Parts: sequence; structure tokens; C-alpha cells
Amino acid sequence: MHRVTVKRKEHFNAAHRLYNPSWSDEKNEQIFGKCNNPNWHGHNYEVIVSLTGEVDEQTGYVYDMKKLSDLIKDEVLNRFDHRNLNLDVEEFKNIIPTAENIVKVIYDLLRVKIEEQYEVKITLYETERNFVEYPA
Ligand code: NI
Repeated sequence: MHRVTVKRKEHFNAAHRLYNPSWSDEKNEQIFGKCNNPNWHGHNYEVIVSLTGEVDEQTGYVYDMKKLSDLIKDEVLNRFDHRNLNLDVEEFKNIIPTAENIVKVIYDLLRVKIEEQYEVKITLYETERNFVEYPA
């Protein structure tokens, strides 16, 4: 038996605004810059879900990739794709939709749907050059 990490990459488009309501407009502008634009802006997010587990002797698989793809569609893409994260997504009512917060929300949504014996890690690209990983 050996452990392997399998990864599935998916894509969604979403709009957001980085804004802390307890700060002045000036401070929001100073901290968040262009991402504070009141009329929103979008990103093409790439999300990579990594599962680590034992290779099953019967199937030769760690995890059924069709099942993983369906899970990401149901839990993440259907919630986030072509949405305004601040306005449309319940999870961001009270937290700022930075990549750091989005990756944690995605992890929490998927972790409860995947059996405990698998390690789960999420990588989220907000731009080609800026990406985050959770758990750290
Ligand atoms: Ni942004």
C-alpha cells in the first residue's frame, strides 16, 4: 500500500469587493486599493483540490475523480460561479472575500463531504501570480 495525492482543477468566475465596514472609506482605499472599487470587479479563479490517501488494491485508485469533480461542482462551483461573492454567497455575509478567506470556505464545504481517511488541501488562484493554500 502506498499513499498518493490526486488533484482536480476547476474554474469559476466571480465578482467581489474587499471592504471592511468598520473602517473609513479612506482607510479601505489605503489598505485594499483597486480591490476596494465600490462597483465590484471580477476574477477568474482556479481551484485545485488535492486528496491524499492510500491507493485501493481493488481499483488502483485513491479516489473516484468523477465523484471528486461532481463534489466540487455541487459544493463550490454552483455556489460561487458567476456570482457576486459579497452579495450572493451566504458564507461571505460577515467575512471579507479575500483569497485567504475564500480558500478556507471552500475547504470547509468540501472537508465535511470527504471521508476522514483522506487528507484534503485546497489551492486557490486569484490571479496567475497570486495564489493561496489551505490548510497552511
Ligand atoms: Ni480582487
